[in-house]
Amino acid sequence: MAVREILTYPDPRLRERAEPVADPAAPEVQQLIQDLADTMYDAPGVGLAATQLGVPLRVAVTDTRWRDEEGVRDLHVWINPEILSREGETEFEEGCLSVPGVFEHVKRAARITLRWQDAEGAVHTADFEDFQAVALQHEFDHLDGRLFIDLLPPVKQKLLKKRLRKQKRRREAGA
Ligand code: NI
Repeated sequence: MAVREILTYPDPRLRERAEPVADPAAPEVQQLIQDLADTMYDAPGVGLAATQLGVPLRVAVTDTRWRDEEGVRDLHVWINPEILSREGETEFEEGCLSVPGVFEHVKRAARITLRWQDAEGAVHTADFEDFQAVALQHEFDHLDGRLFIDLLPPVKQKLLKKRLRKQKRRREAGA
């Protein structure tokens, strides 16, 4: 088990665009998947992208069920995900392990069609909706260096980011 440090805003590594994974079965990718899962369950969170561990590769994990149904683990691994289409609009209150303590309503597509590779490298295509579609859009945004707070109205975003930078400086000064 390897729980790793999750980068927090405004760490510049969170803004990197992650590179495609050439070989999902490679040992270092398998290790990354294990670390992502361990770190996500430990946090605890419902999703984590490699970018959040400072690894610029297009890999993310989610488990949107385990916190609701105790003892049930339903880990999903997403490698080289590509959203082929987006439809409709929905709004959920989102949070992020890289933006601790912030929960804000964000608008996203209500339905997506996704193509991705699993941990063995097999290619899949499927549709997702509602909370699952939202969680996936949130995670895959990380792979492009985007955070959910970037989707807030400009004035709110500016104030929030200022506050977060100040909090982080204070945390680091106290550490
Ligand atoms: Ni996040």
